[in-house]
Amino acid sequence: MRESTDLRTAGPDEGTFYTVPWVPATPVPRPRLDWHETTTSARLGRSLLRGRPEFPSDAKVMSRLSEFDLSRLRMAATVQAHHNGRVTSHLARRGIDQFLDLGCGYDWTVPCVETLQSYARRVLPACRVVSVDIDPVVIGTRYGAEFSDEETTVQGDLRHMEVLLTSDQVSSVLDLSRPVAILLHDVLPCLNDAEAVDALSVLRDWAPAGSALSITHATDLAPVTPSKLTPLLRQAADLTYIPRPWAAVKDLFGGWPLLEPGLVPTARWSPQMGDLRDWASGAYAGVAIKPAASTAEAT
Ligand SMILES: C[S@@+](CC[C@H](N)C(=O)[O-])C[C@H]1O[C@@H](n2cnc3c(N)ncnc32)[C@H](O)[C@@H]1O
Repeated sequence: MRESTDLRTAGPDEGTFYTVPWVPATPVPRPRLDWHETTTSARLGRSLLRGRPEFPSDAKVMSRLSEFDLSRLRMAATVQAHHNGRVTSHLARRGIDQFLDLGCGYDWTVPCVETLQSYARRVLPACRVVSVDIDPVVIGTRYGAEFSDEETTVQGDLRHMEVLLTSDQVSSVLDLSRPVAILLHDVLPCLNDAEAVDALSVLRDWAPAGSALSITHATDLAPVTPSKLTPLLRQAADLTYIPRPWAAVKDLFGGWPLLEPGLVPTARWSPQMGDLRDWASGAYAGVAIKPAASTAEAT
């Protein structure tokens, strides 16, 4: 059973924070009572997918985008949501039975999209899943049902990757004698360049041979331009959101060999989306497999 922690004692502005009934795995910002008054990347992503804002703070950001941009970003969010499930099933069918979903977001977004755990469990019912997010509201919506030997939800900051990966919450569920599927879906734009490079370098060293690294990453594929969100999120909530070009995303795989079809606009991973133009994805997706040590040294 987890202990609760009273984070309100940590600072001078006592009273504007609330207590969470879990122990974060890394240092994280304290949860604010007025959380609904500032937009978050998790909520904005869900609002874009649903096509309507959940709170006035999200509406304020969305109102600064044209109808054209909003509809294009909604399309990209839909492609992304379908890809998440598809790639999870794909990795489970390859026999990987442990998943580390980093920057997991809400587990329920729109009615047609299931949780990643359910995609994985349909293929491998006994698989292990650790879901991590920095946002206490995201953790709160998942908290309770998902603590067992096979599944846990962890509040943690990917900017403290080493602390996160060695925490009890992560290490008690994932068995490092077997491959792990690491999912970094639409979260790396929330880190600056140095933070993203550091996080990936720690992750790649930590992962057992045979592990999979699945990345989706926003990019501008005109007329879909996620970078229009960059200044809006900075102004509204001091959030980082950096879409990156193909070469910068490719570098994050650190030379691990990519599975077919490579690092491509996300929709190209799904045959049923075959008719969608590349720009509709507004993101690249790729999956790479960590080679055995001797192969990695040889390359
Ligand atoms: C755009 S959402 C993507 C959610 C989900 N992976 C998906 O593909 O639908 C980005 C998520 O990353 C989380 N996030 C952002 N920065 C983070 C950080 N430094 N550490 C952990 N999670 C972070 C946000 O709270 C949010 O839930």
